Amino acid sequence: MITFSKDFLWGAAASAPQTEGAALVDGKSPTVWDKWFELEPELFYEGVGPEQTSNTYYQYKEDVALMKKMALNSYRTSISWARILPDGRAVNVKAVQFYRDYFQEMKSNGIEPIINLFHFDMPWWLMEKGGWETRESIEAFAFYAQVVFEQFGDIIKKWTTFNEPLVHVECGYLGEAHYPKVVDFTRAIQVGYHTLLAHAMAVNRYKNSKYNDGEIGIILNLSPVYPKSTHVEDKKAAHITDLIYIRSFLDTVVHGYFPEELIQLFKTHQLLPKVEEEDKEIFQRNIVDFLGVNYYQPLRVQRPKKEQFPAQFPSAFASHYDWPNKKINPYRGWEIYPEGIYDLGMRLKNEYKNISWYVSENGMGVSEEERFLDESGVVQDSYRIDFLKEHLIMLQKAISEGSNCFGYHMWTFVDCWSWLNAYKNRYGFYRIDLENQFKRSEKASSLWLKQVIVENGFPM
Ligand code: BG6
Repeated sequence: MITFSKDFLWGAAASAPQTEGAALVDGKSPTVWDKWFELEPELFYEGVGPEQTSNTYYQYKEDVALMKKMALNSYRTSISWARILPDGRAVNVKAVQFYRDYFQEMKSNGIEPIINLFHFDMPWWLMEKGGWETRESIEAFAFYAQVVFEQFGDIIKKWTTFNEPLVHVECGYLGEAHYPKVVDFTRAIQVGYHTLLAHAMAVNRYKNSKYNDGEIGIILNLSPVYPKSTHVEDKKAAHITDLIYIRSFLDTVVHGYFPEELIQLFKTHQLLPKVEEEDKEIFQRNIVDFLGVNYYQPLRVQRPKKEQFPAQFPSAFASHYDWPNKKINPYRGWEIYPEGIYDLGMRLKNEYKNISWYVSENGMGVSEEERFLDESGVVQDSYRIDFLKEHLIMLQKAISEGSNCFGYHMWTFVDCWSWLNAYKNRYGFYRIDLENQFKRSEKASSLWLKQVIVENGFPM
């Protein structure tokens, strides 16, 4: 039997921009996603934009009832900055009422809300001023955080500042999957730096807030980095990839400082961001209480193919490597490697003070999932049950060896809209039918996990 502790948090994760809908209702101002869809709808899969998410703004009670039915005891979502502060200053009372009702509904049903502040959804008014590239964005975010802690701190006891901060840096400034889709590593580094500083400032506001008896953390996507071989050049490639993609964020939020080696690397290539005197202390004084870890697949790297610096900065140090033994999710193309969750857990134990953490996202995206619908309308997602089992076995192994993990959340509860991919890949425990007024229907995996939660484990 694979067992978990009685107080283990079982849940699912989502975000405001991917579920709420009501994109411009009750005073909410547009985010980058709302505007980007208006400007270039053809970039979004099947032309589906952020208005067509899961309609949670109107259907949250139904969702909470389904969570209860599934025996979940926790749920993570985010607050929309553009809904709470449509112009960055004045508090939108309708938004406050909506979130209070929503969170209270969860609590009354025995579901602990874990609330995140930023999930890729920069308000448009701030993006127009330069977004995270500007130093002003830090104070704007800290003010937003302070407002939210004041409004909801009495009922929310687990907060996170950012979801996968690496992603808006990488996809927005080293790739083209997020707005403003520029490729410029100098700007990317500045954006990453400001994001980390905004995170630390928000932690600081929480610690100085009226209701500071809860915990605050951050959600990072910590893909373990594996080299192709033990050859010194491949190991070096993995080491530098880990430094840039993982330790830049992880060391700073847990230890309170940037890895010295990373500073030297950026210095050598004249890539150091603009910093101010007081920043160092802000990082040092505002480390996290816990971590959320999103894990989907590892990064496998080898020595760089050719010298690409400076046009493509990270690829100057490593190139992608396709592991011949890898198991693939045939419906999404991503690698399935459950051992990665064990390696992460042990790394946090051994190198990061055995910090308290939880799996804040893990999941299996499936395209055209309607092909697995049976006659009674249930998606028979045995592939997702296998995925869950394999990852839970590895997670339990890490816990039994002392890793301090307190919960497991799957991405996601109800199939949700996913940025440029819209509904291409479905991840939910519940299927959504966009043609039929956002109707929710259960998948087999929801029944399987419910049993696991009720019994605190499952037979091997
Ligand atoms: C996670 C993000 O990394 O991946 C989510 O936090 C996203 O916001 C999820 O929806 C799935 O991504 P995709 O590309 O498969 O739709």
